[in-house]
Amino acid sequence: MSHKVLAFQNQKLSGKIRVPGDKSISHRAVMFGALAEGKTTITNFLVGEDCLSTIGAFQSMGVAIQREQHTVRIESAGFEGLKEPVEPINLGNSGTTARLLMGILAGLPHHYTLYGDASLSKRPMDRIADPLREMGAKIDGRNNGRLLPMSVRGGGLSPITFYPAVKSAQVKSGVLLAGLLTDGETIVVEETKTRDHTENMLKAFGADLTVEGNKVTVRGNQTLRGCEIEVPGDISSAAFFLVAAAIAPDSEITIENVGLNPTRTGIIDVLELMGVSISVKEKKNIGGEPIGDITVHSSEPKAAVIEGDIIPRIIDEIPIIALLATQAKGQTVIKDAEELRFKETDRIDSVVKTLTKLGASITPTTDGMVIEGGTSLNGGVTESFGDHRIGMMIAIASLLIDDKVELHDDECINISYPTFFEDLHKLLNEGQ
Ligand code: S3P
Repeated sequence: MSHKVLAFQNQKLSGKIRVPGDKSISHRAVMFGALAEGKTTITNFLVGEDCLSTIGAFQSMGVAIQREQHTVRIESAGFEGLKEPVEPINLGNSGTTARLLMGILAGLPHHYTLYGDASLSKRPMDRIADPLREMGAKIDGRNNGRLLPMSVRGGGLSPITFYPAVKSAQVKSGVLLAGLLTDGETIVVEETKTRDHTENMLKAFGADLTVEGNKVTVRGNQTLRGCEIEVPGDISSAAFFLVAAAIAPDSEITIENVGLNPTRTGIIDVLELMGVSISVKEKKNIGGEPIGDITVHSSEPKAAVIEGDIIPRIIDEIPIIALLATQAKGQTVIKDAEELRFKETDRIDSVVKTLTKLGASITPTTDGMVIEGGTSLNGGVTESFGDHRIGMMIAIASLLIDDKVELHDDECINISYPTFFEDLHKLLNEGQ
């Protein structure tokens, strides 16, 4: 396991960068390109390990997918072109690949075996397997059919109306994709709207789909048509540098061409709520996904209570928001975020353990955490626990710390942001 010694004390950040392509959109572009008839070209694809797991899965089903750096070309015969692979499909660390792919496989008349790494093998799959079983798929797996490795025998699905118990775009998307392979209308009604990239992109691929508030209706027996997808920069990756510039001294950075889909911009709302100086300039809209530039200046953040419907809009940003809260004036409370327990790690546990080790005053609760602000952090030996977002949170924390911080198991950052340290160095060098 590799490690890094981080010594970025008290440096300022400045300049402009573009972060890599959005992870959620990159996954979907490959999946829908594989389901569509004809050619699909994806530009600014995220070459992170999770999205490469998605490419590998569809290649193993016989879909022609070629990648040259950040451009992916897919040529598919549509649903008919997806074959039954001989080997089990390796999902790596990727929850999105697991849940969305299961929805697709549920509709295909074949048998598939799926497995993932140690972290993914602990994450709940019943949330997607149960509705797919209700539609008629035969799914089994470890722990009474709840955990990977799992097997899927698909085909012969019936449509359902589904009211998800968990607020999860992965589950919503998996059911909608299975709905494409039924004879009728599949409806998903969410209590709180989760990220809607599936809905936007299915439309771009020509699908017949209606969105009315939190209700999505998809019709079965459809043919998707290949298209061109430009992936916006990932706001969840940008979030690390937005917070870094807010808490490092004398900083000002701009992140260009970031995805500004309103189901993802909770981090902008939280930064504003916490008094961070931030401005957003929307520039274009591609395939229903707004894209623009975000500028942040060093600020004096203040504490906030973060709860309710905003949580799904910041679910991946909570580790870095927790770090920001350690520097804010007052006590920050994060509630209604029990979903954090089912991410790459239990992120309530891993954030609290890590920030406590670095000297923060932070207490876990069943559905979130309470963070005292105005703490000065100390150095030490830390580990990512194999969770990319914990690794990046530690690297940003080290900007505030006078001593050295050792980060063990840093390579997991490649899951979503392989060029993270290059971009950090770029912003620090421009700051000199
Ligand atoms: C994702 C949805 C979120 C998010 C994950 C990517 C997606 O998970 O945490 O990183 O691409 O749909 P849930 O929808 O399960 O909360």
